[in-house]
Amino acid sequence: MVRYCHMSKLIIANWKMNPETLTEAKKIIEIVSKVKNKNTEVVYAPPAIFLHSLQNFFKRKKLIWGAQNTDAMTRGARTGETSVAMLRSSLVSYVIVGHSERRGMGESNMDVALKVSAVLREKMIPVLCVGEKDRDQGGAYLEVLKMQILGSLFGINENLLKNVVIAYEPLWAIGKEENESMDARSLHETVIFIRKVLIDRFGAKGEKTRILYGGSVTDKNARVLVREGEVDGLLVGHHSLVPKDFTKIISEI
Ligand code: PGA
Repeated sequence: MVRYCHMSKLIIANWKMNPETLTEAKKIIEIVSKVKNKNTEVVYAPPAIFLHSLQNFFKRKKLIWGAQNTDAMTRGARTGETSVAMLRSSLVSYVIVGHSERRGMGESNMDVALKVSAVLREKMIPVLCVGEKDRDQGGAYLEVLKMQILGSLFGINENLLKNVVIAYEPLWAIGKEENESMDARSLHETVIFIRKVLIDRFGAKGEKTRILYGGSVTDKNARVLVREGEVDGLLVGHHSLVPKDFTKIISEI
């Protein structure tokens, strides 16, 4: 079985609904953006309302920006939503879709699949989040994971699969302490499983999709998760808001 691992690692800061103020957001990026590691590509996905101010403030630095969600519709009466065209015109490069927190608010695989296609259509990179709620001894969770992956990629143009990033985020490992995160060995097995699902469905086109891990990544476990888990990068939640931890994650990968 082919295993494809990108040399350069992608690290996405998923800030969720944090921090409370723009001033705090600036402070975090001010510190973190000083760290240089040519082996990593760092993406900031701040709350959408801070995006423009942050871009303006840091315009001299070549930072890469992400969005935490999008609407799948191009236009229409969609109060409170943001379209892919708007994100594109706001210089967003990566768009997180199907995060478990959004799936928990009612997003189905089909909703997520429409978002993945919409993001690709606007030539941005969808970061498709998948992950089981919990694990059972019998391995039924693998079927859940497979259905989630295939369902969320339904109808996508196969030639664009190389532009899709999959973020494997088991729900049971999100927002926890480091010792409750996933161990690198189980992560590696799951990455092989995800790759197999992609190759079984899409053939060789499934080889190049980047696979990230997310779920209580800290400065202490990031390196081992990437190395031994053999992932192409990390989606970091609460520890991406702690400059000293996040800079360590970036520099040690
Ligand atoms: P966490 O969040 O790192 O706080 O567990 C990850 C995520 O939900 O993207």
